[in-house]
Amino acid sequence: MSTAISKKELIALLEKYDVPCPRYTSYPTVPYWDTEPTTEQWLETLHRTFQQEQTPFGIYIHIPFCETLCTYCGCNNTITKDHGKELPYVDLLVKEWQMYIDAVPEFRKAPLKQIHLGGGTPTFLDADNLKRLLTPIMESAEIAADDFEGSIEIDPRTTKPGQLEALRELGFQRVSLGVQDFDEKVQHMVRRYQPYDLTKEMTDKARALGYESVNFDLIYGLPGQTIASIEQTAKYTIELMPDRIALYSLAVVPWIKPAQRSFQDEDLPKSHEKRALYERARELLLQAGYIEIGMDHFALESDALNTSFKDGTLHRNFMGYTDQRTDVLIGLGVSSISESPYCFHQNEKVLPVYERRVENGELPTHRGHLLNEEDRFYRQQILKYMTQFDVELHDEEQKNSVETFLDSMIADGLVEIDGMHLKLTQKGRPFLRNACMALDQRLRKGNPEEQVFSQSI
Ligand SMILES: C[S@@+](CC[C@H](N)C(=O)[O-])C[C@H]1O[C@@H](n2cnc3c(N)ncnc32)[C@H](O)[C@@H]1O
Ligand code: SF4
Repeated sequence: MSTAISKKELIALLEKYDVPCPRYTSYPTVPYWDTEPTTEQWLETLHRTFQQEQTPFGIYIHIPFCETLCTYCGCNNTITKDHGKELPYVDLLVKEWQMYIDAVPEFRKAPLKQIHLGGGTPTFLDADNLKRLLTPIMESAEIAADDFEGSIEIDPRTTKPGQLEALRELGFQRVSLGVQDFDEKVQHMVRRYQPYDLTKEMTDKARALGYESVNFDLIYGLPGQTIASIEQTAKYTIELMPDRIALYSLAVVPWIKPAQRSFQDEDLPKSHEKRALYERARELLLQAGYIEIGMDHFALESDALNTSFKDGTLHRNFMGYTDQRTDVLIGLGVSSISESPYCFHQNEKVLPVYERRVENGELPTHRGHLLNEEDRFYRQQILKYMTQFDVELHDEEQKNSVETFLDSMIADGLVEIDGMHLKLTQKGRPFLRNACMALDQRLRKGNPEEQVFSQSI
């Protein structure tokens, strides 16, 4: 089938398929979690996993604090300039981890493959507090010999002396810079002022310190973005040549994030205008030698994300695409999500509630989902499709059902059924999430009652 597509056709397709749609960083997706585990059940799934094999694991640590609010932000954050909050929060994170290793002593022996600090803004913590947080956690675990990956999301505007040095000393090799857009007008509209020189300074500094991989987070669909502005953002990005780029679609969820109501509707590019921003940035990044990975990532040929994409080991979890596959991921901190092969588990989402529970010596379970066998099967199918764009359907019944659900996408040449395989065509790349819905048994049994998903485009 030809992959050539006219602009007019693309616009029509983007309008046709721009519907509310999950991002598939988990399956079942969060609105369909309906078998809440108790803390004991969650811990039992960890025991069960470690009994079966010596599973490597990862830790995600959420630092919710940000000094100022970027109005587009969809993350769980607490806006404050009070750095007195650092120390008590760090001590609670260490306490939470201690509760895990007391309850599941296997954590002391299993290889710790990954620590990721995310937020909010992890660079809200000063160098001493970063060490105070990470040292006891790393000392309590068996760091995976050759392939431990330590990574942190940094906000160049609040990165302070000594932080990147401290993390390098602890063996961290990856930094991800929040950039979003280099254009001053766009920055003004989203209340995030970040001069190019500052981003350059942080990038150069990370490289000089020996960080192996520098990532930039960019967003398309922000208010005020135009083709000319995204070209300039892509051009500046290419000048600095990060190893990886995440080019996220702006998730517009004003019912969860009221600050997004400050945007005027007419300032937000939608549907085909929004996708055109991605396509233009993509074109420039590919010309500069980047490879498109998954649905919103780019990497230099030499980067591990590209290698894992090529050899079929690319993984996807709550943090998005990653080359590090760990079946057990422990989320520490307010709102963090953990996973095992049998269970999802989310911590309390409200900071004072999280604090109170950990102070009382409780693991701060807020909600979660115990996966049944069917969930586990479709979870693997969806993971495969989101990372490889090709999945084997398990029987004629699923094939017929997928074919019926996707009849219009098949007719439009966006997906193909080839024998027992569901494949995404090149033309179908913008519609990966839409196609994935055909594999999502829970969604197909019924839509959630409230508005929960952002648009697919
Ligand atoms: C926790 S922030 C990164 C670290 C730091 N807080 C900063 O902004 O520099 C994680 C990333 O999520 C992305 N993000 C935030 N809100 C988003 C939204 N509404 N839609 C899509 N991506 C979003 C941004 O690209 C951001 O860099
Ligand atoms: S984008 Fe980053 S700095 Fe801005 S509010 Fe969100 S988490 Fe905080």
